[in-house]
Amino acid sequence: MLTGGGDCPGLNAVIRAVSRRSFDRDFEVLGIREGWRGLVEGKFEPLGPREISGILPRGGTILGTSRTNPFRIEGAVERVLEHFSAESLDALVAIGGEDTLGVAARLYAEHDFPVVGVPKTIDNDLSATDYTFGFDTAVWICTEAIDRLHTTAESHNRVMVVEVMGRHTGWIAVMSGIAGGADVILIPEQPITVEAACEELEKRHQHGKDFSIVVVSEGYELTYASGERREVTQAGEDEFGHVRFGGVGEVLAHEIEERTGFETRVTVLGHVQRGGSPTPRDRILATRYGLKAADLVDEGRFGRMAALHGDEIVDVSLEEATAELKTVPPDWYEVARAFFG
Ligand code: F6P
Repeated sequence: MLTGGGDCPGLNAVIRAVSRRSFDRDFEVLGIREGWRGLVEGKFEPLGPREISGILPRGGTILGTSRTNPFRIEGAVERVLEHFSAESLDALVAIGGEDTLGVAARLYAEHDFPVVGVPKTIDNDLSATDYTFGFDTAVWICTEAIDRLHTTAESHNRVMVVEVMGRHTGWIAVMSGIAGGADVILIPEQPITVEAACEELEKRHQHGKDFSIVVVSEGYELTYASGERREVTQAGEDEFGHVRFGGVGEVLAHEIEERTGFETRVTVLGHVQRGGSPTPRDRILATRYGLKAADLVDEGRFGRMAALHGDEIVDVSLEEATAELKTVPPDWYEVARAFFG
């Protein structure tokens, strides 16, 4: 079993569930350290009842993680295959998001590698599943932050811009914005203009509300009525070749203050969204996914991923899950938009 990509609350709950069900079947379970890097470098550790005891409520991952992509390192895929066979392993459970599971899908398609996937990410951007675990906790953390920002915004008559994660999708922004009663939400999928956002805030002030909450997703491109667009990113990229987001909130806050004259502050929630204990909902979802993954291994149904459809745990192909990003559909944004201004 390995955990790859950005960590999120609930990883340990999956590790526990996969292990517990596998122990019941007298399987041996081996943990692979730090995602795909552990398979490339041969870093293993046995997982027994003692190792997995007490980990259900713990955030992070007891196995460690990395964004190592063996397909981007010369000779690394061969080393993955060699280490896997040298340890006489029968199956791999890969717990990850689109990157980690993208590697799993390729290994399965190109090398008939016996792997099953479990969908993790706070971003909730994996296709073929309604929800990934970790997302509910992130939304809960952001909602709590928005609630707290409301009271200080109101005391000072300020606009509070809250920057949340989510990469190229606005799931966290939309859901926490709806739950927290945000007055404007900006996401990559429905890029309303900076001018339109300011108009909503002005309208609100005209109606006697002197404070506002603006939630912006890190991947939102500042969009202007002129048609100009501006993405805000940090220098460098991760090992999967993704841009590093962060900073759009600061630029947006500056724009709002300049255009409206309303005093504006920015809060970047950052990695707080990925830390700490999972919500009960995430613990339960992660547990159900873990049991399903262990069952898929037992049945020899490789190239599959545990998924949630409605309230049912099902399995889907890794290929389908990683083919494209699951973006926020317009009807969800309309729910949020009904409360703008
Ligand atoms: O994919 C999860 C995520 O938290 C994104 O929302 C964010 O853009 C990225 O990871 C941050 O990555 P890192 O932990 O490498 O800074």
